[in-house]
Amino acid sequence: MTVAIRQIHPVFVGEVSGIDASKPLSQAEVAAIEAGMDRYAVLVLRDQVIDDDQQMTFSQNFGKIENAQGGNITKQDELRLKPGMVDVSNLDKNGRPLQRTDRRRMFNLGNRLWHSDSSFRAIPAKYSLLSGRVISESGGNTEFADMRAAYDMLDDATRASIQDLICEHSLIYSRGSMGFSDLTDEERAMFKPVYQRLVRTHPVTGRKSLYLSSHIGTIVGWPMPEARDFIRDLAEMATQRELVYIHRWRPNDLVIWDNRQTMHRVRRFDETKPRDMRRTTIASDGPTVDQAAVLASTA
Ligand code: OGA
Ligand code: MN
Repeated sequence: MTVAIRQIHPVFVGEVSGIDASKPLSQAEVAAIEAGMDRYAVLVLRDQVIDDDQQMTFSQNFGKIENAQGGNITKQDELRLKPGMVDVSNLDKNGRPLQRTDRRRMFNLGNRLWHSDSSFRAIPAKYSLLSGRVISESGGNTEFADMRAAYDMLDDATRASIQDLICEHSLIYSRGSMGFSDLTDEERAMFKPVYQRLVRTHPVTGRKSLYLSSHIGTIVGWPMPEARDFIRDLAEMATQRELVYIHRWRPNDLVIWDNRQTMHRVRRFDETKPRDMRRTTIASDGPTVDQAAVLASTA
């Protein structure tokens, strides 16, 4: 089959045809998807009936699967899916929707804030691949915003002033901003803030983008309220309607996004019904900034 990609949003996002994610890919197919990701930043593949092993095998064409530990409050023995799979469903181990006040549910509500996956890790995510196994009938759209286009909209003075800024990212900040601060000492230690550049340059295309995420809590060297106001301002601009693609899920959609160039969020849905979404995450090559060097500079 030949791979074809059709742009489905004025700014970014491609719909891919000619790929069967359940089967091994040729080098040419992998290269076509990578090139599509570099160009469109989000790719939609329809009708991909895959199991978890097939999803992991397909994902590994694009790099190493991230170790999911340290990214959630769900305990090891509560996990519904095997290592390598990230559970972004609303379900418990027995496949039942989590109770409204379940701590895990409240924590996972953080996915409704605009974010970039694993920006709270020193080595953040490259791609995320999300498979819609059971989709929501009402609500539950996933929205994406193009952070390259957002960067392009900045004026020269702003671009120059933010070029070397470093932000602190942590799950403590994103959850705290929703009023969820019920974390154990162990969880706080696990969610220790990391540093990320605010402006990133794509390793292949050389395009610059704004590296924004709900996990940002401050900018190194700035008073926290001033940093939060500025980041909020940038995020508001970066998620304006024209830069947002709304993905309306069909069963067995596989959506791949580049966390280095986009943000995303999920919208409200009927949580009395199962929404079974399963993610694989590909780690990026390295940190966006030398963690020890930033720490030393702040001492
Ligand atoms: C994710 C995420 C969105 C969704 O998988 O990283 O934020 O639609 N989920 O569930
Ligand atoms: Mn996410």
